[in-house]
Amino acid sequence: MKKTFAYGLVALVIACLAFGVLLLKENIAARKEEARHHVFKIVDLGEQSVDPADWGRNYPRQYDSYRRTSELTSTKYGGGGSDTLATDKLKEDPRLVTIFRGYAFAVDYRLRRGHAYMLSDQRDTKRVTQHAQTGACLHCHAANTVAYRKVGLANGATGTLNDPLVSSHGYAQLQKGFEKVGAMPYSNAVALVEHPVTCLDCHDPDSTQLRVTRPAFLNGIRKLAESTAPLPHLPSIEKWRKGDRREPYDPNRLATRQEMRSFACAQCHVEYYCGPKMTLFYPWDRGLKVEQIEAHYNSLKFPDGRRFFDWVHADSGAEVLKAQHPEFELWSQGIHARSGVSCADCHMPYKREGAIKVSDHWVRSPLLNVANSCQTCHRMPEEEITARVAIIQERNHALLLRAEEATVALIRAIAEARKNGATEEALRSARELQRRAQWRVDFINAENSMGFHAPQEAARILGEAIDDARQGQIALLQPRASSAAQPKPTSVK
Ligand code: HEC
Ligand code: HEC
Ligand code: HEC
Ligand code: HEC
Ligand code: HEC
Repeated sequence: MKKTFAYGLVALVIACLAFGVLLLKENIAARKEEARHHVFKIVDLGEQSVDPADWGRNYPRQYDSYRRTSELTSTKYGGGGSDTLATDKLKEDPRLVTIFRGYAFAVDYRLRRGHAYMLSDQRDTKRVTQHAQTGACLHCHAANTVAYRKVGLANGATGTLNDPLVSSHGYAQLQKGFEKVGAMPYSNAVALVEHPVTCLDCHDPDSTQLRVTRPAFLNGIRKLAESTAPLPHLPSIEKWRKGDRREPYDPNRLATRQEMRSFACAQCHVEYYCGPKMTLFYPWDRGLKVEQIEAHYNSLKFPDGRRFFDWVHADSGAEVLKAQHPEFELWSQGIHARSGVSCADCHMPYKREGAIKVSDHWVRSPLLNVANSCQTCHRMPEEEITARVAIIQERNHALLLRAEEATVALIRAIAEARKNGATEEALRSARELQRRAQWRVDFINAENSMGFHAPQEAARILGEAIDDARQGQIALLQPRASSAAQPKPTSVK
């Protein structure tokens, strides 16, 4: 009897111990789960949660770093400087005043700075205060997803604001509102928005999964998918092309997580047309390379039948193009894209906070954070990494200045020839070559990495620009020996 009792006791103790271990395991699992999700839902977020402070209550770590984009930073070629107003690009490089003569960029053109400033810097630029602009400018400068949908609904789109954005109703509301707001005068449109880019613009409010919300990006990437340009760095597009293509390419449904880590930025950091004559668009119908975009612009006609151009150069009379921040396009031609390295890998690296790994939402120059941005992959001293970047940027900068010099020389030569009574026919070739040279120079000047995102491609483009500009000068010296002076089409590969 005593023995049985003793056995029973032992069994009980073992059972208790086993239960304890189970409890402990469960507790550890819960902690791990917590570390994985680290979300304490305080606020119910939905498709109308525009205010980042609401999101910040559930995701304080991401919110805190997001808010730091208001801190002024600069590196040799990055950031906007430390003054109240970002550094003036025109004062730093007077060649640009000649290159942009006759266009709003000759009046006010500054270095970019943190996301927190995107809406106020746009409201304040003389390009807006002294020139009439449209609501399309807001496409990349504000939290506008909900504003677009509201205007879309008011203009006949069906469904409600609570429909998920990624649904046929949500998309239709977004596109309708985008067209309507884009056509409004800037001052009316800007009254519809309150915040710079917000959480809702990059995240689904239920799952926090990445998503893209800019209508012009959704349209542009669909056109790109439908083109024949090889896109080895965008595997979901290559895959879609091999399918039945019944549904158009939709990044929110088809892109890989790694692609989304670049698409989130490619919503805005891209070349675009934003003027009064057509709805805002991204010119990717033939591909992302400089000459593919140029070929697309050259084939476009305005509603009045004229060939596409951004403005007529005041000194030379050439119909020229303006390039804007083609970061996604240039990155696409570089070794990092080819190796599957996304924008977020360098510009929003993971950082540890206790047991938790979060994405650094302080989007800025990676050179301010080499340890997290680069050394995760490149196991070498920080000085070595920054030295390699410096070599790339200095070489690119030197070539860029030479290409600008060549372009300015061509502009002066055309202006001179006009004064001396040259015929329109004699000026034609030179102006075409100015269009080509200027487009290329500006593509690399407006791109914000000073060549880093794709060094060899940047050098190729600048080399072509120098050649085009000098050929233009030769064309003016020999107005009758015209065959050598014809612009040569480059092959589009
Ligand atoms: C391999 C790392 C890497 C990747 C990937 C990368 N970048 Fe960069 N980016 C850099 C570096 C380095 C610079 C130069 C920063 C400087 O000069 O301070 C830069 C500069 C920039 C700048 C200007 C920064 C500033 O402070 O003025 C922008 C904007 C930018 N990149 C956007 C993008 C976008 C958009 C993508 C994806 C399409 C991307 N980058 C992909 C490393 C990267
Ligand atoms: C809604 C459009 C939009 C999206 C999305 C966006 N950006 Fe920007 N970004 C801007 C604008 C506009 C500015 C310039 C703001 C200014 O100068 O006032 C800017 C500035 C920057 C800068 C310069 C920061 C500094 O301190 O100088 C970097 C770097 C940058 N963006 C990288 C990125 C990356 C990486 C992503 C994706 C994770 C991204 N951006 C997503 C519009 C956007
Ligand atoms: C396709 C997205 C997009 C559209 C549309 C857009 N921007 Fe921007 N804008 C950006 C990005 C990205 C930056 C930061 C990179 C840079 O400055 O090169 C920027 C920077 C700026 C800046 C700060 C630097 C500078 O250029 O002085 C101003 C001001 C600005 N934009 C005004 C405008 C105006 C005015 C319009 C309408 C004509 C407009 N933007 C339309 C994406 C856009
Ligand atoms: C310009 C786009 C952009 C904006 C705006 C943005 N995020 Fe993110 N966010 C990202 C990217 C990129 C990641 C990395 C996602 C991945 O790898 O799947 C991320 C990741 C996250 C994650 C997942 C956990 C982590 O840290 O990796 C959370 C949560 C999050 N963001 C919350 C927020 C909140 C809250 C805001 C607003 C205060 C915000 N985000 C604004 C682009 C953005
Ligand atoms: C996710 C991994 C990853 C990150 C993060 C990363 N790189 Fe790289 N980097 C690569 C790969 C892969 C290559 C291609 C060469 C190779 O295969 O070793 C490369 C190549 C380079 C090269 C040679 C470029 C050329 O044209 O040949 C330089 C310079 C470089 N990286 C600098 C940087 C800097 C600076 C950063 C941080 C801003 C950075 N990388 C971040 C993976 C990364």
